[in-house]
Amino acid sequence: MLEVRGLFSGYGKIEILHGVSLEVKESEIVALIGPNGAGKSTVLKTIVGLLKGKGSILFKGEEISSLSSHILVGKGLSYVPQGRIVFPRMSVLENLEMGAYLEKRREKIEEALQRVYGLFPVLKERKEQKAATLSGGEQQMLAMGRALMQSPSLLLLDEPSLGLAPKYVSLIFQKILEMRKKVTMLIVEQNAARALEIADRGYVLELGQNRFEGSGRELLNNPEVRRLYLGG
Ligand SMILES: Nc1ncnc2c1ncn2[C@@H]1O[C@H](COP(=O)(O)OP(=O)(O)OP(=O)(O)O)[C@@H](O)[C@H]1O
Ligand SMILES: [Mg+2]
Repeated sequence: MLEVRGLFSGYGKIEILHGVSLEVKESEIVALIGPNGAGKSTVLKTIVGLLKGKGSILFKGEEISSLSSHILVGKGLSYVPQGRIVFPRMSVLENLEMGAYLEKRREKIEEALQRVYGLFPVLKERKEQKAATLSGGEQQMLAMGRALMQSPSLLLLDEPSLGLAPKYVSLIFQKILEMRKKVTMLIVEQNAARALEIADRGYVLELGQNRFEGSGRELLNNPEVRRLYLGG
């Protein structure tokens, strides 16, 4: 579904990624972990066209590295940025409708809404409420729900559990497991152990380069990965 080869990217003259490679197969959950500043968010931003990099990015076999974000959304690639970004003064329903801005047919939007409400019933209960007044966990579900409105085939999630209370961390991971039936996911997570437990495969990034890769279980059991990234 996604194949990234030798990706270089950064901000202005500062190079942050020095040849990162990874792949995501259809219906997999792949975790991307690593210390703060390793370049995990930069990888996602470059894949979705928010940063221009060098190297190859194939999505369903098509080279997408020169395409812009809104084109990629139409091709089935959705992205939930780090930090629970919602439109604060808009209602839950309006936020979700924004996620389907490429869809003009009302009945398709309605179908997508029902699917998202099925996964996140709390969004239905609170559909008239302003997004700013949702709890942190609810805002994260809204950001994820909005990305699902376009029925993507690949979803990139940046730190979905960051800064949430423990009960919401568990809920978000449970929702990710429910979503796996419908969508392939590449997930960046601070909560590395938990991410590797649910991931089919994972990559450890360090200083803008690949450091380790393997199945979720292999990485969880790798003594060096445990010592360096999972707190021993
Ligand atoms: N807009 C920007 N302009 C300049 N440098 C940036 C910008 N955004 C990120 N960086 C730098 O790029 C490097 C990698 O950042 P990135 O956000 O990709 O790391 P990360 O692995 O996602 O870290 P975290 O776990 O803290 O989210 C960092 O050194 C950061 O300071
Ligand atoms: Mg980040």
